[in-house]
Amino acid sequence: MISSFAFVLAAITARAVATSNSDDIAIPPGAVYIDPLTYDVLGPNSTWYAARNTSSSTVGFNPTNSTPPFIQVFDPSFLSILGPSPTFRLIASNPGFAFAHEAPIYDAGNNLLFFSSNDGGPLGYNGWYNNSVVSYLNMTEVDEAITAAGTGADVNVQITTLNLSDTVQMVNGGTGLYKGNLLFVTSGRALLPPSIVLVNPNPPYNTTVLLDNFFGRQFNSLNDVKILPGTDIIFFTDPTYGYINKFRPEPMMPSQVYRFDPSTGQVRVIADQFTEPNGVAFTPDGRTAFVTDTGGGTITSTIYQFDVDPATQSFTNRRVFAYADSGAPDGIQLDTMGNVYAGCGEGTHVWNPEGTLIGKFYLNSTTAEMMFTQSGLVILDEERMYLVDIVARGMNLGTL
Ligand SMILES: *[C@@H]1O[C@H](CO)[C@@H](O)[C@H](O)[C@H]1NC(C)=O
Ligand SMILES: *[C@@H]1O[C@H](CO)[C@@H](O)[C@H](O)[C@H]1NC(C)=O
Ligand SMILES: *[C@@H]1O[C@H](CO)[C@@H](O)[C@H](O)[C@H]1NC(C)=O
Ligand SMILES: *[C@@H]1O[C@H](CO)[C@@H](O)[C@H](O)[C@H]1NC(C)=O
Ligand SMILES: *[C@@H]1O[C@H](CO)[C@@H](O)[C@H](O)[C@H]1NC(C)=O
Ligand SMILES: *[C@@H]1O[C@H](CO)[C@@H](O)[C@H](O)[C@H]1NC(C)=O
Ligand SMILES: *[C@@H]1O[C@H](CO)[C@@H](O)[C@H](O)[C@H]1NC(C)=O
Repeated sequence: MISSFAFVLAAITARAVATSNSDDIAIPPGAVYIDPLTYDVLGPNSTWYAARNTSSSTVGFNPTNSTPPFIQVFDPSFLSILGPSPTFRLIASNPGFAFAHEAPIYDAGNNLLFFSSNDGGPLGYNGWYNNSVVSYLNMTEVDEAITAAGTGADVNVQITTLNLSDTVQMVNGGTGLYKGNLLFVTSGRALLPPSIVLVNPNPPYNTTVLLDNFFGRQFNSLNDVKILPGTDIIFFTDPTYGYINKFRPEPMMPSQVYRFDPSTGQVRVIADQFTEPNGVAFTPDGRTAFVTDTGGGTITSTIYQFDVDPATQSFTNRRVFAYADSGAPDGIQLDTMGNVYAGCGEGTHVWNPEGTLIGKFYLNSTTAEMMFTQSGLVILDEERMYLVDIVARGMNLGTL
């Protein structure tokens, strides 16, 4: 049911300006090419210095003054991720309610995308006394609406909100399917503990809690989770956003990253020394790990890269993978080629496996997470959801 009309649009050819290689590159409609050589020297009077001088800058670098949503290309290699005619459109919207924040899980069998509303932040309508919600978007309905609407048009597909058990409080991260289930990490709420939970992706959406403490101490506020490829082992982050956003008591442990083996029940710390560890991801071969740190601004807005120790599965050889130029990198996903996508200050940034920023899906608003589906990349933008129909596909995140 994927519409093919998008691919019949002719690509226009734009002349690269002031480039070291004088090749012509074919920039697809809806995208702009920003040759780094054109902006490497701005001089003392550039307005960009002033515009971007804040400690938590979400002012994007948009020198072409393009109108969001649009695609920025910083390196011609990004074109092979986009394909000849990417489309970038709104697919769901509910102004005034941050219904689409994080925890995206794509259930390919049912063609549903699950996700959570904003927990503790603006327009989430929750906090110490109120829980957040988990919903799904039916991607088959999205495909049908796009076909009916025609070329380039936005659509607005209704989401469905689940009635989950009270053991599920403030969902913030998700992955899977894990043995056929949605795998969520929750931040907990008030004295209700953060936890790892399995949720049946089909009615009645019954749940099983797998872990809710570290040898008797509650976690701070679990944030994100991934499964090490080729295993059933769960890796998750525990920053202090529950406390920062006033829906959890004072932290009882450092902000660190854990490994949990559900078959033995063993849990241990495998990386520390973060400001606020947030997103976590692996390369498709499971040999390299990424942890984003959303400390923010001039402190840390950084994606760290690690080796996954083959014997212990601890994260070793920490190094900087990338520093986000806008906002802080939050949720992180990889495509099948090992390119790295993270939600940042003004949209989704994409780096190649060496850590070079090659492009952005530019929205001019902070987007925390994104997820690949068979229809393309879905970007969670709080009060809105966008679909970018590109040729890159996501790595397999689930287990059998
Ligand atoms: C920068 O602005 C100052 C003050 O307006 C002006 O004197 C100077 O020539 C400008 N420099 C450049 C490189 O444009
Ligand atoms: C950035 O802004 C602060 C506060 O307005 C100011 O003190 C500082 O000099 C500015 N830095 C630069 C590099 O312009
Ligand atoms: C929590 O929910 C109640 C009842 O729905 C509502 O009146 C209240 O405004 C909510 N609190 C917040 C912080 O949104
Ligand atoms: C998703 O939409 C398709 C097409 O309308 C429908 O057949 C299917 O039952 C829907 N799935 C769910 C879980 O609602
Ligand atoms: C959740 O419960 C409400 C009220 O009982 C019901 O209207 C709604 O259909 C339920 N949602 C799902 C996804 O089952
Ligand atoms: C949901 O309930 C079914 C039937 O009891 C059970 O087989 C399944 O394991 C449960 N799933 C979860 C995630 O608790
Ligand atoms: C981006 O958003 C800011 C603040 O919401 C607004 O002032 C600015 O005009 C927007 N920029 C573009 C290019 O839309």
